[in-house]
Amino acid sequence: MDEPTFRTIFEPFRIHSVEPLRVSTRAERREYLREAAFNLFQVRAEHVLIDLLTDSGTGAMSRDQWAAIQHGDESYAGSPSYYIFADAVRELFPFEHIIPVHQGRAAEKILFSVIGGSGKVVPNNTHFDTTRANVEATGAVATDMPIPECHDPSSQHPFKGNMDLTALEDLLASRASDVPCVFVTITNNSGGGHPVSLENLRGVRELCDRFGRPLFLDACRFAENAWFIREREQGQGDRQVADIVRDMAALADGMTMSAKKDPMANIGGWLAMNDEDLAVACRNTLILTEGFPTYGGLAGRDLEAIAQGLREVVQHDYLRYRIRSTAYLGEALLNRGIPVLSPFGGHAVYLDARALAAHLSPLEYPGQSLAVALYEMGGIRSCEIGTVMFGRQPDGTEAPASMDLVRLAIPRRTYTQSHIDYVIEVCEQVAARADALPGYRIVDEPKTLRHFTSSFEPLD
Ligand SMILES: Cc1ncc(COP(=O)(O)O)c(C=O)c1O
Repeated sequence: MDEPTFRTIFEPFRIHSVEPLRVSTRAERREYLREAAFNLFQVRAEHVLIDLLTDSGTGAMSRDQWAAIQHGDESYAGSPSYYIFADAVRELFPFEHIIPVHQGRAAEKILFSVIGGSGKVVPNNTHFDTTRANVEATGAVATDMPIPECHDPSSQHPFKGNMDLTALEDLLASRASDVPCVFVTITNNSGGGHPVSLENLRGVRELCDRFGRPLFLDACRFAENAWFIREREQGQGDRQVADIVRDMAALADGMTMSAKKDPMANIGGWLAMNDEDLAVACRNTLILTEGFPTYGGLAGRDLEAIAQGLREVVQHDYLRYRIRSTAYLGEALLNRGIPVLSPFGGHAVYLDARALAAHLSPLEYPGQSLAVALYEMGGIRSCEIGTVMFGRQPDGTEAPASMDLVRLAIPRRTYTQSHIDYVIEVCEQVAARADALPGYRIVDEPKTLRHFTSSFEPLD
């Protein structure tokens, strides 16, 4: 008999345990904002109604992940949990050396402290903020090379996360010896959460081979990236996502990973590579900063939760729901005339704050203003990805970021469709009054990663 088809793509899980949400009033939220100096990172989580600050570590673990937690073995050295973890990683990313760390930025810190340094330059389609900061902390230069379509909000390019191969070739042709490695971030989070095609990765590989440079993946959202490849790249539609992931891995020499994203854990990460000498140097640093190489800053139980998460994230039912539910939010906003980046990425919808609050200049931080307004109006916490995050230059000057976005990141398996319908309604109400959004100024900021701790004040 023919399989019946239905339009509705529902959450492929039932709720097993619940967390209460407390509804605050607008007057209360105004007070919370003042207390937090208008920085949403400083707002207490219990004062947030729908938390779309990040998809990192905020997902719901499955029954089988909680069971895996019970199976964790906390031996200092040689824990069986490490081997379960390493086998699960190698099943998708068959690198020689798998080094656990407590989260993605620890992998970056270790890698760049070994291969970075002044005079070096690291190209990436777009560096994530911690990746950039860890490159720059060594004195090296972090260069973003996305394709031009990445910064064109109206472009419908199916792989807006791709690397600009011409720009990469130019860099390698002029100073390959200064490039310790080429990085590709999948999906391209800071560039709009867009995927990178297999074809583009093969192009990067070819250039790396030609100039004798290693290729590393920042692979936080590898499964979402692979799903987009399956959906959008010619000849990939009938393939298993796990096979596509293995194809991506086979093109690289190593990877950094935050297990707080697609591996569905609340903490963790890893650094992996094939090069023996590099692995030895990284493990030596690991022991100083994270711990012994078979636990690397994690408990045995965390390693087991990651292993189980890796098995779940490549399941097609999950990925179909995940990508569709993000697009549901994006389409609803677009249909209401709210400017969002499209096509939609996997883990987030990005509001184009520069277009929505066109009366504000980038240095008046339109993204910050929109994010604050979404919180004040409906208790939704989002994240500015724009001039606040990227405006401060290494030489101390300030410049507009290439875009001023507000990211609505969707935690994995956490919110239902009615939560998202509420988010849509709040966005609609804020957008209706966008021309009255105030600009902001920074009152106080740290030297790096200023978006986390800066204090803000609305302009008169
Ligand atoms: C693309 C990318 N790279 C690296 C990181 C850093 O990972 P972590 O937050 O686990 O340190 C993130 C976190 O959001 C990310 O999105």
